[in-house]
Amino acid sequence: MKILTVIGARPQFIKASVVSAAIKNTVGLNEEIIHTGQHFDANMSNIFFDQLGIPKPHYQLDINSGSHGSMTGRMLEAIEKICLESKPDRLMVYGDTNSTLAGALAAAKLHIPVAHIEAGLRSFNMRMPEEINRILTDQVSDILFCPTETAVKNLKNEGFDQKPIRVLNVGDVMQDSSMFFAERAVKGETLKAVPESNFIVATLHRAENTDDPMRLKAIVNALNYIHKNILPVVLPLHPRTQKVVKSLGLELEMLVLQPVGYLEMIWLLKHCNAVVSDSGGVQKEAFFFKKPCITMRDQTEWVELIENGVNILAGADTQNIINSTQAMLNKPIEDPFNLYGGGKASQNIANVLAGI
Ligand code: UD1
Ligand code: UDP
Repeated sequence: MKILTVIGARPQFIKASVVSAAIKNTVGLNEEIIHTGQHFDANMSNIFFDQLGIPKPHYQLDINSGSHGSMTGRMLEAIEKICLESKPDRLMVYGDTNSTLAGALAAAKLHIPVAHIEAGLRSFNMRMPEEINRILTDQVSDILFCPTETAVKNLKNEGFDQKPIRVLNVGDVMQDSSMFFAERAVKGETLKAVPESNFIVATLHRAENTDDPMRLKAIVNALNYIHKNILPVVLPLHPRTQKVVKSLGLELEMLVLQPVGYLEMIWLLKHCNAVVSDSGGVQKEAFFFKKPCITMRDQTEWVELIENGVNILAGADTQNIINSTQAMLNKPIEDPFNLYGGGKASQNIANVLAGI
């Protein structure tokens, strides 16, 4: 079976590192990769291919920046052309980015079956571009690989159990990548200014925060305060945020780094005391490395973490972020729950695709 996989953004490279390896090791499966180019800086793209052994993409589109419509539309046209040439048996997409939606739509219109990894996640906030992308992608897919029981329930509530498609809880591929790369974590040259211990890792890039100056200012104030009064904050800064911070003239007083490679990021997660973030992936990684997480959003798709008290939603309110950090800082984090499948998701996915 020939699988055409579409990836384009940082978290998708990390997920593909483990899923593509499982596909390669499974008899009867053969994968070709399209890199849409949505993320393109060396430290947002190439570094992951170099560090994580992801197969070289067969197709490189270089479509990035611009508006949602323009990016998604250009990707749709380009992926349709590749589908017609390459004639895959199935197309596969990850998550909720513009690359995800463009891939799924292009294939579905050509009657090529679509498998969606990380299906069924919902924030119930339709103002998020990610929520629109994942709902539409789920609608046109015929295999929905869910990472959690919550995701399966969300789909059931939307009537997916009445459709002639497969909805499967295979576990979360990010747990696979965290477990696989945990032993390979490195501090490396890019982290030389980072202390060996006693610091907080922060990440910040979600459109709902970066594109609202009030929210962004409130978050920056909180992170500056935490850095000066609680523990040093290390912030590898997404290029999106870097641009907005510059244009608004905001002063970042914490230790700001360029985006780091995954092996360095895992090092930070292993050695920090807590995580403050608006990322989807980083919320779970905090848990995998037994660190409390303060999430700077109003909702999360990873509700199990909130229910088990290992993650707290602090929104974009300065005082709430500071108080939540103080409250969570020394909280011991355990994982007796096996919330995310225990690291077998990639092989589960490959087995389903191979009909094993
Ligand atoms: C995208 C996803 C988001 C995901 C994130 C992962 C969508 C709608 N959003 O958001 O769900 O959490 O990726 O990181 O698909 N840029 C650079 N260099 C890069 C990458 C981006 O300068 O290597 C700039 C772009 O030019 C653009 C901005 O950052 O101006 C935003 O990039 P974009 O890919 O549109 O969205 P992300 O915020 O990265
Ligand atoms: N990450 C990384 N370097 C960084 C910041 C994040 O390797 O400088 C990793 C992080 O560990 C996680 C993934 O990127 O595996 C999450 O990506 P991001 O936060 O960009 O997107 P989201 O998960 O919110 O879609």
